Amino acid sequence: MFAATRQSSRLARSFSTSARANTRVAVLGAAGGIGQPLSLLLKLNPLVSHLSLYDIRLAAGVAADVGHCNTPSTCVGYGPENDGLKKALEGAEIIIIPAGMPRKPGMTRDDLFNANASIVRDLAQAAAEVAPKARIGIIANPVNSTVPIVAEVFKKAGVYDPKRLFGVTTLDIVRASAFLSGIAGTEPKDTNVPVVVGHSGPTIVPLLSQLPAGKKVVEQGGETLAALVKRIQYGGDEVVKAKDGAGSATLSMAYAGADFTDSLLRAMKGEKGVTLCTYVESPLYKDQGVEFFSSPVELSSEGTVAKIHPVGDLHPTEQKLLEACLPDLKKNIAAGVKFMSA
Ligand code: NAI
Repeated sequence: MFAATRQSSRLARSFSTSARANTRVAVLGAAGGIGQPLSLLLKLNPLVSHLSLYDIRLAAGVAADVGHCNTPSTCVGYGPENDGLKKALEGAEIIIIPAGMPRKPGMTRDDLFNANASIVRDLAQAAAEVAPKARIGIIANPVNSTVPIVAEVFKKAGVYDPKRLFGVTTLDIVRASAFLSGIAGTEPKDTNVPVVVGHSGPTIVPLLSQLPAGKKVVEQGGETLAALVKRIQYGGDEVVKAKDGAGSATLSMAYAGADFTDSLLRAMKGEKGVTLCTYVESPLYKDQGVEFFSSPVELSSEGTVAKIHPVGDLHPTEQKLLEACLPDLKKNIAAGVKFMSA
């Protein structure tokens, strides 16, 4: 079972246990639309012992506010003054990065490259220096390119470990579960749709055929299938349009980001077999020049990549979607690498 769809029941359960809190988490971009609710959700997670919230603005206020929630973890905010970024990263075992510009109507995620590439690069440089062993989850878009940028930064610093770097694609899995269960009348928590390849338009490939409710929709084909796949791929646009220029998905992304982080935390606490779809350096399509790819990834007891599972059985329509988008993904990855070699 994939992680995202179990979030609500698991969170409810975990709040009522006395699970040992022992992991220090840093959120970079903590005062943003995603960063604030994500920080709140992480403050509620009993597996977090300390939260460092960094942003170029308002982080102290967010930390003061979130810090009043009466959960055992401590919470400190840092701005850029007085070496705040380095202080925020000291001792961090998990670093989540939602810093960067969100989309406005009409923009693709790739349109964010110019604004966000340097933000992510600079934050990654600090992480490579201060907390090179931390597990890093990248939310900032375009994820298909920002993850390779972080890899290049870590390689340059001589501290790259591909098992510790993740692109957060969890929102695609959350959306696929919500939208399919809405059509099929299934329980969202039991409607676990693997979503593979990447995190941008056509590179978001839901494998609906791999669960009974989705298989029915795939076999029926036609308009219902086409509309469902499109909605999963472009669900982000739905939010961008509805917010009418005020940003992109923040609350559902915070939920997804908290679920992603919870997967790492549970694996680090000793839960076996924690598996989630996430965008990592992957051997699966390397022979086609694609070095990063999202597929089900099993975590080690260190909260790092233990096993990269293949995509599994595909319906011919899914095979077609997957093959068609690999050149796009390849370009996205190359853009990240090129940015770092310039
Ligand atoms: P936002 O504009 O509300 O917040 C971004 C925050 O980053 C701001 O508080 C800003 O001050 C901060 N920031 C900017 N430069 C920084 C720096 N150098 N260091 C630290 N903080 C810095 O944007 P929002 O809505 O929170 O989105 C953040 C990113 O997440 C965007 O790139 C967006 O496209 C992406 N995103 C990713 C999703 C995914 O599924 N992976 C889903 C939705 C959004």
